[in-house]
Amino acid sequence: MDVTFSVNGERVRVDVEPRHTLADVLREQCGLTGTHLGCEHGVCGACTVLVDGQPARACLMFGVQADGSSVVTVEGLAGDDELHPLQEAFVVHHGLQCGFCTPGMLISAMHLLDTDPEPTREKIREQMSGNICRCTGYIGIVDAIAAAADVMRSGDTGVSDRVSARAQETPSHIEEPKRSPPPGG
Ligand code: FES
Ligand code: FES
Repeated sequence: MDVTFSVNGERVRVDVEPRHTLADVLREQCGLTGTHLGCEHGVCGACTVLVDGQPARACLMFGVQADGSSVVTVEGLAGDDELHPLQEAFVVHHGLQCGFCTPGMLISAMHLLDTDPEPTREKIREQMSGNICRCTGYIGIVDAIAAAADVMRSGDTGVSDRVSARAQETPSHIEEPKRSPPPGG
């Protein structure tokens, strides 16, 4: 099925197998491998992306369900030559070790700060409880999100604006559909 949606502000059109998840489509057809697959049944949060501004488990959505929507993945956070304050804070505060959970953590944290620019540590822990990390013990993650909130409140509003714009941008072009080669071809 032909599916057209916006990813990080760029419209893409892909030929999607109805059984493929949004995570599969993002990783294998859009080349956006920052969206990680851990549990593949909605528990770990590694695959979290924003769909029309709301966090979604990309492993629980079919790609065809994204038709007409705006998706933001972890690749949409950084600017051309600058990291998002959340990304910088995760580095500085040791919010990651192996990094497998990090894309989903960053997307969930970004949504948290979009909805509450000054969250308490308790709220950060509660809101991030849907994202599992096997490495860090979470303290560095909470520290990083609190620090990024401080930075973003202090005036770096351009970052949040940029990500929001990517979720709503009118795409400048439509990519040709990427089709699987025929069997044996
Ligand atoms: S891979 Fe989607 S929630 Fe774990
Ligand atoms: S940094 Fe390894 S799972 Fe979180």
